[in-house]
Amino acid sequence: MNIIKNVHILEKKIKELKKKKKVIGLVPTMGNLHHGHIKLISSAKKYVDIVIVSIFINPMQFNNLLDLKKYPKTFEQDCCILRKEKIEILFYPDIHEMYPIGLKNHTYIDVPKLSKIIEGKARPGHFVGVTTIVCKLFNLVQPNFSFFGEKDYQQLLIVKKLVKELNYPIKIISVPTIRLKNGLAFSSRNKNLSISEQKKAPFLYKTIKKTCNIIRQKKGKNIHKTIQESREYLRKKGFYIDIFNAYDPKTLDSICKPSKSIIVLASVWLGKTRLIDNKKITLKN
Ligand code: PAF
Repeated sequence: MNIIKNVHILEKKIKELKKKKKVIGLVPTMGNLHHGHIKLISSAKKYVDIVIVSIFINPMQFNNLLDLKKYPKTFEQDCCILRKEKIEILFYPDIHEMYPIGLKNHTYIDVPKLSKIIEGKARPGHFVGVTTIVCKLFNLVQPNFSFFGEKDYQQLLIVKKLVKELNYPIKIISVPTIRLKNGLAFSSRNKNLSISEQKKAPFLYKTIKKTCNIIRQKKGKNIHKTIQESREYLRKKGFYIDIFNAYDPKTLDSICKPSKSIIVLASVWLGKTRLIDNKKITLKN
């Protein structure tokens, strides 16, 4: 595996690949790779000639310094996984390579509205960090396809919007969430859960699924009451709720009356760990 740390070396490599007319796929990550990332990579292999993985723990998207410090750094382990997956190029820049003038005065990309609501409201500045680094990676790697997980649903919508509106010639492929047998979505943050929190964490997806089933049974009526009951249940189980609500899957406007398509989005805290998850449903007429 060719580990490229320098922007200019990457640009040279990309030029060569483009000359050879290779179809390039980018899987952007912050490392601490798990089955969710492996699924992104295996999906990418179906579309492209060469999959480039990036690992960069992007400080601009952390609005909480402690969260950044605590973010698991497992480079050697990640490299083993990527070698097993036969990845040829890993882009692994350091902070000076990506933000040579520092963060404060750096140019940024800001997607209006969609990045200011829900998760963007709970974590001010988070999506500006995500969209800025994603655009920098797109500009450097010039992929034909890029792959994003459905677990970070709002991030996925925001990336699709910026690709469309900034005319990037890139197809964004969304990849379904990968879960443990107990339903808990794979996430780098799961490592921070204590033993007792690990036992509680699966209740999040169980509750999301149950909420969706009730919404379906009631044909989308009384959503507000269903949501309130689910929130109460999670609180009793020991979760602190930042977000647990029903939204329109396209606009992410909150929904309070029957609608054909609904997504339940959740961001909750279990102790000091933030967990996010979601489920989309379609209601029949
Ligand atoms: O989803 C992530 O891991 C990050 O937000 C991303 C897309 C790699 C940007 O840093």
